[in-house]
Amino acid sequence: MNIRPMCTSDLDVVIENESSAYGFPWGRGVFADCLKAGNQCWVAEIDAEIVGHAVVTIGAGEAHLLNVCVNRSLQGAGYGRCLVLHAMEAARKVGADALFLEVRPSNQVASQLYESLGFAEVGVRKNYYPAFLGQEDARVLVIDLESYFDK
Ligand SMILES: CC(C)(COP(=O)(O)OP(=O)(O)OC[C@H]1O[C@@H](n2cnc3c(N)ncnc32)[C@H](O)[C@@H]1OP(=O)(O)O)[C@@H](O)C(=O)NCCC(=O)NCCS
Repeated sequence: MNIRPMCTSDLDVVIENESSAYGFPWGRGVFADCLKAGNQCWVAEIDAEIVGHAVVTIGAGEAHLLNVCVNRSLQGAGYGRCLVLHAMEAARKVGADALFLEVRPSNQVASQLYESLGFAEVGVRKNYYPAFLGQEDARVLVIDLESYFDK
């Protein structure tokens, strides 16, 4: 698998993958804004086909994984783990000590992935996500990148 920076011409496929995977997918404008803002945005490719993406924002020694996604039909093959590890490595390389993220309590696959890497819950944001019936909380998870990579 090859992971490379996302560009505007990738957005049609990125949005298709996003829509296949999420009940509440990001739209084109959100990805375009992330690219414009200089966030770290990547795509993962297999044989030049984009299978997933990840977006990280970094500031003041902290990084935040804003999005990680694998096309629904290709999930469970290890691509998500590679994307999250890539995000951790890239954040560490530019000096971040910690990588935060939010995850729905109902998203057991993602939670299991993060926890298997060493992410731990540090809080809950009430009613953070839209849900099909009202709102859903977000679990806030963090991993200490310094301990993960440097010890
Ligand atoms: C979450 C997501 C990115 C994981 O990517 P993936 O390629 O499917 O995951 P991987 O194959 O790398 O699996 C990584 C781990 O996730 C967990 N996992 C994967 N599929 C699972 C399943 N069907 N049931 C339970 N856990 C599962 C396991 O812990 C797995 O590790 P293991 O293979 O060592 O057991 C992907 O499922 C996805 O795009 N989901 C929709 C979008 C999303 O929820 N993003 C995260 C928002 S916080």
